Amino acid sequence: MEKIRRIKVVDILRMTEYGKSVNVKGWVRTKRGNKHVNFIALNDGSCIHNLQIVVDVPEFPEELLKKITTGAAISVTGELLESQGSGQAVEIQAKEIEVLGVADPEKYPLQPKRHTLEFLREIAHLRFRTNTFGAIARVRHAMIFAVHKFFNDKGFVNIHTPIITASDAEGAGEMFRVTTLDIDNPPRKENGEIDFDEDFFGRSANLTVSGQLEGELAALALSDIYTFGPTFRAENSNTSRHLAEFWMIEPEMAFYDLDDNMDLAEEFLKYLIKYALDNCLDDLKFLSKRLQDEEKNKKADERQMELIEKLRFVLENDFVRLSYSEAIDILKNSKPNKKKKFKYLIEGFGADLQSEHERFLVEKHFKKPVILTDYPKEIKAFYMKLNDDGKTVRAMDILFPQIGEIVGGSQREEDYGKLVGRMREMGIPEEEMWWYLDTRRFGSVPHSGFGLGFERMILFITGMGNIRDVIPFPRTPKNAEF
Ligand code: 4AD
Ligand code: MG
Repeated sequence: MEKIRRIKVVDILRMTEYGKSVNVKGWVRTKRGNKHVNFIALNDGSCIHNLQIVVDVPEFPEELLKKITTGAAISVTGELLESQGSGQAVEIQAKEIEVLGVADPEKYPLQPKRHTLEFLREIAHLRFRTNTFGAIARVRHAMIFAVHKFFNDKGFVNIHTPIITASDAEGAGEMFRVTTLDIDNPPRKENGEIDFDEDFFGRSANLTVSGQLEGELAALALSDIYTFGPTFRAENSNTSRHLAEFWMIEPEMAFYDLDDNMDLAEEFLKYLIKYALDNCLDDLKFLSKRLQDEEKNKKADERQMELIEKLRFVLENDFVRLSYSEAIDILKNSKPNKKKKFKYLIEGFGADLQSEHERFLVEKHFKKPVILTDYPKEIKAFYMKLNDDGKTVRAMDILFPQIGEIVGGSQREEDYGKLVGRMREMGIPEEEMWWYLDTRRFGSVPHSGFGLGFERMILFITGMGNIRDVIPFPRTPKNAEF
């Protein structure tokens, strides 16, 4: 038989040339049937749907059919037929089947049934083969593409900022050290301290927590830039919203004030949601059903809005914008605060907002995404622009339902003297940051930017509950398998 070009399942499902010979390759999800006819559900990851392969049992050797079990990889050549059964448009009547890779049914960990997400995390190398993780991978890809399209269409320049750095952009000290020194026997100075002069870079180096500082250097020449890279935080927060390695999108814009910054961030988030609705609807419908099944046993008032409805709702409504101080007043007088239901009670100005407070504002009080501005300077990074009150900074955090903080950003302090003042107050070593400070000495201008946590955005769009399930290989405390 002549070699027939392989066609992906997503494309076959759209074909109408009945009678045509086609070849398809993929992994068996299920095989059922009787001694006359077998039905194989084949998936190749190109879409959420399986392709039905119809096998007339007497036409194939028993030995071959025995090897076609869940997880096996096969190549099928056959005739495209209009499907008789419901649920799919077309099916393939198999003429030739080749088993490319067997999967011993005694040992293959994925069964044709629903597995728990916790179990799937233990077999993350195989979880791409499930409907849920296939859908998430495709949505994640679409969002990566949409991020670049959004900024490219606006004339932003993508900048690759370094992954290894000597500075702590957020000043939070939650960094992973990068070193080639012998940890059993590091070189020491006379006073006993480790001598990083001897290290690979001739100084102590870390994995970056943010590309912002380098991004600012580029923005103060190119006007509008963005970074999209991996960032690393050694914070020991074992929560469903934190990863030790995550991806962040950080646009930085010269001549933008805080309002311009918020407008761009809101437009950007809505663009990503619309892109997902326009391009990933089959996967979103699957994820929506998954979420509804999962929430079946919850009380009605604890269930989330249906996924697609939720995405449309965020798209169609303006985000609420208010100051941190206004939010503190609302929280202080809220029921959960008065009834001591919050784990961290809000006493007044100065409190750092926890995710329970953020979610109260978004899910209970405003029932919409919220942008909070003008936080106390003590709880924000050194580079944020000081307000005239001397107490607050031009920060903005965007809070989303189920997620809490999804974006953190600010207008930057462009005044050299004030910036150095803040660095001294916060113990940021000036001499190591000379290159950053130079932008404030030469042609400094008002500028702003923000960071979107990519995985938190994927959590929101897919309706998943745990950030470990929206990145293929999660890095969290005590977990770096695979
Ligand atoms: O608020 P963050 O720390 O802001 C910055 O890093 C700034 N340099 C951004 C900027 O202005 N250019 O982090 C930004 C976002 C958060 O809002 C959150 O969505 C996400 O990054 N994020 C995390 N996501 C997953 N795991 C973690 N450990 C995260 N920490 C922050
Ligand atoms: Mg933040």
